[in-house]
This record gives sequence, structure tokens and C-alpha cells, in this order.
Amino acid sequence: MGCAVLTGVGAALNGAKVRPGSSVAVIGCGGVGLNVIQGARIAGAAQIIAVDMVPEKLEAARQFGATETVPAGPDAIGAVRELSGGGVDYAFEVIGLPATLLEAYHMVRKGGTVALVGMPRNDAMMDLPIAKLMFNEIRMIGSFMGSSPFQVFLPQLARLYRDGKLLLDELVSDRIGLDGINEGYARLVAGETRRNVIVF
Ligand SMILES: NC(=O)c1ccc[n+]([C@@H]2O[C@H](COP(=O)([O-])OP(=O)(O)OC[C@H]3O[C@@H](n4cnc5c(N)ncnc54)[C@H](O)[C@@H]3O)[C@@H](O)[C@H]2O)c1
Repeated sequence: MGCAVLTGVGAALNGAKVRPGSSVAVIGCGGVGLNVIQGARIAGAAQIIAVDMVPEKLEAARQFGATETVPAGPDAIGAVRELSGGGVDYAFEVIGLPATLLEAYHMVRKGGTVALVGMPRNDAMMDLPIAKLMFNEIRMIGSFMGSSPFQVFLPQLARLYRDGKLLLDELVSDRIGLDGINEGYARLVAGETRRNVIVF
């Protein structure tokens, strides 16, 4: 609740302010990306396209609200543009890489919003074809920790969970002790888990 859920759901609801009936692409469907997906679902998005390189993550994405899934790779931009009829209203980057941020930029339609949620290295840079930014009136935003004060947003999330609209139990892949933390971390890096919960 205090990190992945808050960050992902908040990026959709408070940061990008996803509108009902809109189309959304989410690149990177880990613990944070799955929460962007369910944030977009809660906001009433009509189309949510999930992009990831791990098939299990794409399966999970459907459970959290994705209407379509696209394997990561060179064809992802074309696939998202085709599925959305020319580009999505909102594209979220949830990995932290310049290359996938550029993909998000090319996935949005005219007037669309690109949101950076993934945390890049401090020295990360990117080349951007900027004419499109102006002609297509694209908005680029960053979203940090859900773009809302914790005191306001955490109780809202708790209510959404209580009402059955926010999936939390489904995020937990494993419950481990502190002695299992190295193995848990290795599984996280391998992309095998949604979230490991450490039980003290
Ligand atoms: N903005 C914030 O306030 C904030 C807060 C917390 C975390 N983060 C950042 O969000 C990012 C995601 O965190 P997480 O916990 O979900 O990570 P994670 O490791 O659980 O998930 C990353 C996902 O991206 C996928 N992926 C990796 N490379 C890919 C590629 N080239 N194309 C498509 N998919 C790819 C992986 O398969 C995985 O499913 C991290 O950079 C993290 O630091 C940001």
C-alpha cells in the first residue's frame, strides 16, 4: 500500500488523471505497473493495453484490468497504435528506461499524455523527436509516489479495497521471512514475482 499500490494507482488517478472511456497503454507490468492498470480500470478507462516481456506478467495484467496484452519488443508501438485505432490517450512507462519512455511517446495519439512512473538512473538521458511534441500537443508528465499526499490518498485506497474495487491480495506472490530475502530478491530481479511480502 505504501509504495507500489500508492504509486501505480495514484499515477493513473491523480497524476495523469485518466478519464472515463479513454484508452491507456502501460509498459512494464510489475508491482507498480499492475497498479497503474488497476488505477486506469478504477478511473473507467475503456481500453487498457498491457506491454511486458514476461508472459506471466501479461496474464496478471488481465486479472488487474488490462483489456489487451502486447509482448514487449520492436513491434509493440505498432501493435498498440493498431489496437487503439491510431494511438492511446495515455501511455505509462513503468520500468525507468529511456528506450521504453520513447516507446510510450510514440504510442500516444494527438493530444495524448505520456507519464513517466518508472525510476530512471539519475544520469539517464533521451533523444526525442520534438516536432511531434508540438504538432501533436503531447503532454509529458512525471508522477512520483502517486501524486497525492499520503494522508489523503491512503484512506481512499483502503476504502477502494474494502469495496472490492482494489486488488491487493492478488498482488502477493509469496510471503517470506527475513531469511528468505536473498532468494526473494533474485526472483524479483528475474521477473518471476508480483510482490514478495516479508513477514516479521
Ligand atoms: N514514480 C515513483 O514514485 C516510483 C515509486 C516506486 C517505484 N518506482 C519505479 O517503478 C519501476 C517499476 O517498479 P516495479 O516494482 O513494478 O518493478 P518490477 O521489477 O516489479 O517490474 C518491472 C516490470 O517491467 C518489465 N520489463 C522490464 N524490461 C522491460 C522492457 N524492456 N519492456 C517491457 N517490459 C519490461 C518486467 O518484466 C517487469 O514485469 C521501477 O523503476 C521503480 O523504481 C517509481
